This record gives sequence, structure tokens and C-alpha cells, in this order.
Amino acid sequence: MSINKVADLINKDTLTESELSYLIALEGTERDDFLKATGNKYIGSLGKKVYFRGLVEFSNYCTKDCYYCGIRKSNTHSERYDIDDQAIIDAAKFAHEHKYGSLVLQSGERSDLAFTQRITKLLKEIKAVTNNELGITISLGEQSEDVYREWFEAGAHRYLLRIESSNEDLYYKIHPKDLKHDFETRINCLKTLQKIGYQTGTGVMVGLPGQTYEDLANDLLFFKEMNIDMVGMGPFIEHTETPLYEYKDELWSLQRRFDVTLNMIASLRLLMPDINIAAATALQAIDPMGREKALRYGANVIMPNITPTEHRKDYTLYENKPCTDEGADECSNCLSIRVEMAGREIGYGEWGDSQHFFNRQEKDD
Ligand code: 5AD
Ligand code: FES
Repeated sequence: MSINKVADLINKDTLTESELSYLIALEGTERDDFLKATGNKYIGSLGKKVYFRGLVEFSNYCTKDCYYCGIRKSNTHSERYDIDDQAIIDAAKFAHEHKYGSLVLQSGERSDLAFTQRITKLLKEIKAVTNNELGITISLGEQSEDVYREWFEAGAHRYLLRIESSNEDLYYKIHPKDLKHDFETRINCLKTLQKIGYQTGTGVMVGLPGQTYEDLANDLLFFKEMNIDMVGMGPFIEHTETPLYEYKDELWSLQRRFDVTLNMIASLRLLMPDINIAAATALQAIDPMGREKALRYGANVIMPNITPTEHRKDYTLYENKPCTDEGADECSNCLSIRVEMAGREIGYGEWGDSQHFFNRQEKDD
């Protein structure tokens, strides 16, 4: 009976909050059937391609104080770094030469003029040294519309800004309640990014203190409602030097957070078949095969870390972060083997844009 329920849900055109909550909470053999059938359905319709995004975490200086994050401003134990421009450009060249198709620039959040102008200059330089062939995604937090526009014009075409949780009460449980961490502002930033023309990505953490299956179902419905093009979701992993660490005994087990994240990925794939979904690195902090599993059940983007190795260990948003000792070459070899093991193919040299972005443009015309 229940197996039929899963089979019925997989074939439905859309899913309600209670149906999504049901899928997100699945355990045991029913869950195995759900994940496998969703993965097969997806690969059958959209194909086997997986896209690489070379990830450069170029600085961990941050002006914000999110309660979950290891690089929050108040963490005085974090060793701060800022990679120089030439090393960032070299990493971009590496991505281009290795046919990754795209680059992701990520850092702690800053909005001072020296920072925003530096990014503009870097974007232009990266475009120039890679013959305009490298797609650029940026993940640099909340900024003014003018700054978002300046960076778009300089060459960035995709932006990642996770909502972290779409439940406003939960949002304020994991962020200070002040103007720098305002829920409304974050949503408005997502809308501004879309208006400017970015392919827009967001996402949430799974297994936050007090988070329920209904919250998670509503996160997925939020992505749909907002017409989001790309999603990254990873398990929440407590970090000793952060305020949320005090909830460590109330959290789901790491394994449960991992399992529910995969259920979220598969459920989202059913709800939004044409978006890009990333296999988040945090999955691999729990299970050595975490990202491959995500690729089997609906993810189609993976982000090899190409940050110069000496700084990787300092970008510790959460503990037990994988690949902190590997160099970019090792990481890309390792990942290509991992993608093949997951029965997928790498879209070398392709930007791997979100199909949803083009589908929604057509609808708007
Ligand atoms: N556990 C899991 N993910 C985290 N992030 C930040 N801190 C943690 C943590 N402790 C995620 C956030 C952020 C992304 C860059 O990393 O979702 O948006
Ligand atoms: Fe980085 Fe394996 S993915 S070393």
C-alpha cells in the first residue's frame, strides 16, 4: 500500500506540503524505493550530464554574525585570509584549462567599496583571460541593487544566496535579529537578482535546531513560488565556535540529517524537474560518498574546490570539511572518478546553465 503511495507521488505533476513532508520524512525500504525511482525518472528525462563549477573560497573575512557559521565575525579563533587577485585569476585559468565550464567565487560577506570594486575588476579580468568562455557564478551575500548590477555587467551571470530557512521564526533563531540579518532584505535581494537577469540560486540547511519536516516541505515550496533556477542544500553541521553549538544534543543524528538532505534533493527534483541542483560539499563531511549519492538521486551540479590548498582549512564554515588537504588537480581527478561511479557523465567545457532559467524566460515573453 505504502509503496504504491510513493509510486503515485512520483508520477504526480505537483506536490502539496503534506505530500512533500511525507517524502522528506521517509525511512527504510520505502525511502530506498523513492530515491531510486526518482533518480531513474530524472536521468531518463534530463540525461546523465553533471556540470562542474570550480569553487574558489577566496576570503573568510566576514562582517556578519550568523549563529551557525564558523567564519562569523565574532569567532576570534578563525585564522583570517584573503587570497590575492593573481592567485584567484590563476584558479580561474585552471578551471578554464581543465574545461570546468564555470567558476564560483565565494567569500565571507563584505559590502565596502574597496571590496565591491575589487570584485568588478576581478570579474572583468577573469572574463578577459578566459576568452569569455568561462561562466561565472558569484556567492557574495547581500548587496545593493547597484552593486548586483555592476557585477552582472562585469560578467557574472549566476548568483547564489541561500535563504538558509524560509521559515521566518527559524531564520531569526539562527541569525541575530538586526538590520544586518534581516529576513525581508534577503528575500528582496533574491528578487533583485532575478530582476537584473541573474540565474538565481538559493538553498537551505537541513537539520537545524527545531526545524520540522513541514518547515523543509515549505522550503521546497518557497523555491517553486520564487521561481528559483538553482538550489544547493546541505546538512547543518554544528561548529564548536558558534552559538548554535549549544543545541548539539537536540539535533537529529548526523546520519539522519544526511538522509533527510537526500530526501529533500529527490523531492525537489520531482517538484522542479528543470532546475540545477548542487551536490553540496557538506554531504561529504558526513558520508565519504555523500556527493555521489546526491548525484544518483537528482543533483546535477558539483563544485570541485580549487581554492589554493594552503587556505582551504581556514574556510571552515562547519567542521570535518572534506578535501582540505587536496590540491585542485587531485580534487578534479577524484571528482571525475566519483561522477563516473555515480553512473553520470561530466559536461566538460559547458556552462551547464539552468534549463529552468530559459523555460521561465520563454514563459515571460
Ligand atoms: N553547517 C552546514 N552548512 C553551513 N553553512 C554555513 N555554516 C554551516 C554549517 N555550520 C552553509 C550556509 C551558507 C553556505 C555558504 O554554507 O548555508 O549559505
Ligand atoms: Fe576533492 Fe575528492 S573531491 S579530493
